[in-house]
Amino acid sequence: MDKINSFVFDAYGTLFNVNSLDVRLTHYFGDQAEAISATWRRKQLEYTWLRALMQRYVPFSQVTREALTYACQLANVKLTDKICTDLLQRYGILKAYPEVTDTLQRLSQTHRLAVLSNADPAFLERAVQYNQLGSYLEAVLSTDTLQTFKTVPPVYQLAVDALQIPPKQIAFVTSNPWDAAGAKSFGFTTVWINRGTIPEQLGFAADTEISHIQDLATDL
Ligand code: LAC
Repeated sequence: MDKINSFVFDAYGTLFNVNSLDVRLTHYFGDQAEAISATWRRKQLEYTWLRALMQRYVPFSQVTREALTYACQLANVKLTDKICTDLLQRYGILKAYPEVTDTLQRLSQTHRLAVLSNADPAFLERAVQYNQLGSYLEAVLSTDTLQTFKTVPPVYQLAVDALQIPPKQIAFVTSNPWDAAGAKSFGFTTVWINRGTIPEQLGFAADTEISHIQDLATDL
């Protein structure tokens, strides 16, 4: 295998814990919170894929809001403007998983690091700054540049162009199975952080599977 000299990370679910909003969702929606949270996340992703196919781009923050509206409608729960605004503001400052800072610090001593996310740049920068990760990252890349979303191949090319390294020498790290398949299909060396799910059946298995981000090795 080619020697890896860079790590490119997915953001949501990989660095930033999307479940860190659960307490807030329970506060608003009680025992419906779990179902709303699951539908919200699933629809958010579906809408990115659909919008990419339809070539009807809107920023990820809007996709996230529209998916929340759908999830509340499905659960037959009223989503007031106040609750919607509060949840979206909090989505913009999701907490990183506890092990993320130490892992990025360790890897940044020997490797170049970047983030590649669907999130619009302002959304993404706010999360990076809130979690004080900026000093470890050489680039924070958003698919917004191309007005589309993962898993369209040109989106992954953004990382290659920014780092100027062949895809195989870049380890793309994600906890999202569909993103791992997209990254592997594109040509990255791919690491899937399996936080308790199963791989996609798309024919593009990750090169490496780990359970925790701190298990990332530099000799992939
Ligand atoms: C990201 C989401 C989709 O691209 O995980 O950051």
